[in-house]
Amino acid sequence: MTPRAITIRLAEPRDAQAIALMSRDFIETGLGWKYDAPRVLRAIRDRETLAVVACESAKGGLAGAITAFAIMEMGDERAHLVLLAVRPTHRRQGIGLRLLEWLIESARTAGMASVHLELRSTNDAARRFYRAAGFYETVLVPGYYRGGEGRKEGALRMLRVLRAPGPLPYTWRPPRTEDT
Ligand SMILES: CC(C)(COP(=O)(O)OP(=O)(O)OC[C@H]1O[C@@H](n2cnc3c(N)ncnc32)[C@H](O)[C@@H]1OP(=O)(O)O)[C@@H](O)C(=O)NCCC(=O)NCCS
Repeated sequence: MTPRAITIRLAEPRDAQAIALMSRDFIETGLGWKYDAPRVLRAIRDRETLAVVACESAKGGLAGAITAFAIMEMGDERAHLVLLAVRPTHRRQGIGLRLLEWLIESARTAGMASVHLELRSTNDAARRFYRAAGFYETVLVPGYYRGGEGRKEGALRMLRVLRAPGPLPYTWRPPRTEDT
């Protein structure tokens, strides 16, 4: 199959339902459904949160179906990658990595020192994916995820360092009028 062109763009309110369903089906399986459409909509509208989607380019240049999405929250210095998923039909085509690199560049531009995330400790595919993207494991948190019927699952925290923590070096100063 010839890979079709993929466009990455900021998520819009009309994408909330599709993103929420992808989160339910590909990320939150067995843990309840926290990222339903209203919550995703709040994330899309939040100024401190980046929500992005990858879309397959449809015929005639129109925007096609969402094949992947990601949500990342920006803190003072730490960005938190909350969710990222690619449709099973589109995996291992580099889409996840492109989406992640897009977010990492945005975090770097926003002055973030590091990007953090958690994933289910049993999610070996995602662990390998994040390692391939330059993340490393920091700590295992037993019982982090809680689903229905007392179900608990451990989380693995991962981190990618973007720069040394602390204030940003001065790279820009406001222009001054020349002394005459
Ligand atoms: C994890 C996930 C996002 C990867 O997306 P993807 O688009 O398939 O990943 P890419 O094609 O960009 O893969 C980049 C590299 O990551 C690694 N990788 C990705 N998936 C892998 C897998 N299933 N097994 C081993 N390595 C994997 C490989 O090194 C891969 O490079 P390669 O294909 O040249 O070998 C996708 O499998 C997914 O959506 N999983 C379900 C949701 C999820 O677990 N999200 C993460 C927690 S929020």
